[in-house]
Amino acid sequence: MSTAEPPPGPGPATGPGPGGFTPLIEMRGVNKHFGALHVLQDIELTIGRGEVVVVIGPSGSGKSTLCRAVNRLEPIESGTILIDGQPLPEEGKGLARLRAEVGMVFQSFNLFAHRTVLQNVSLAQIKVRGRARAEADAKSRALLERVGLADQADKYPAQLSGGQQQRVAIARALAMDPKALLFDEPTSALDPEMINEVLDVMRRLAHEGMTMIVVTHEMGFARSAANRVVFMADGRIVEDRAPEEFFDAPESDRARDFLSKILKH
Ligand SMILES: Nc1ncnc2c1ncn2[C@@H]1O[C@H](COP(=O)(O)OP(=O)(O)O)[C@@H](O)[C@H]1O
Ligand SMILES: [Mg+2]
Repeated sequence: MSTAEPPPGPGPATGPGPGGFTPLIEMRGVNKHFGALHVLQDIELTIGRGEVVVVIGPSGSGKSTLCRAVNRLEPIESGTILIDGQPLPEEGKGLARLRAEVGMVFQSFNLFAHRTVLQNVSLAQIKVRGRARAEADAKSRALLERVGLADQADKYPAQLSGGQQQRVAIARALAMDPKALLFDEPTSALDPEMINEVLDVMRRLAHEGMTMIVVTHEMGFARSAANRVVFMADGRIVEDRAPEEFFDAPESDRARDFLSKILKH
């Protein structure tokens, strides 16, 4: 391992570490149950500023719950989650700020159907960030331009393709100037021909230094854009390694089995 690489697993609590690695998202001893199901088991995960971490694993392994825990859409039972050195706020204004700072993009887009594309991107800027409408709209238009949708601003979500809607959702998350973005299977609901237009936007964000956690089955994206691949099974992180190491020589039987299933077809 070269000295330029971030330390694996738990790093220093705050401040820049070796090689300029600064932790942005830290999960320490995180546990959660749904009833008898131990869905997050002793999760230790540190994500540095500017890192792109792809999370893969079988259905039901806890990938969505992990993302939702970081955004506090799911409360945890034990352990600590820090964003930029700060513990997650429990409620109120702090929680709204957290959700703005750690944006989330879901499989199902979650756009407001009765608002235009522009309004969708501007709304939280006005409500949460307190921006004036003109300022918010100007920023929204610039972001829509960035995701290739400048000419769609006045349409309603239903008038767009799935790939276009997902790019609006990404623009909406970016409008909050987030410190990090979480993507939970952002292309799983899309027709095949639309997957790349969304992955291209995500690749560009990764290249520009956005800190990202991406749950995806798109192994090409993982290979080309991820700094690390985290493989989950049964609520645990089983492997956490560089993509080429993970794909070329997975260490665990679980990962080998999973890869043989998804790479065969
Ligand atoms: N709100 C919930 N209540 C009860 N069980 C849940 C809930 N959300 C998820 N689960 C269960 O927790 C496990 C992990 O779910 P999830 O994090 O969605 O996995 P993944 O995203 O890896 O498919 C699954 O067995 C799922 O059925
Ligand atoms: Mg999921």
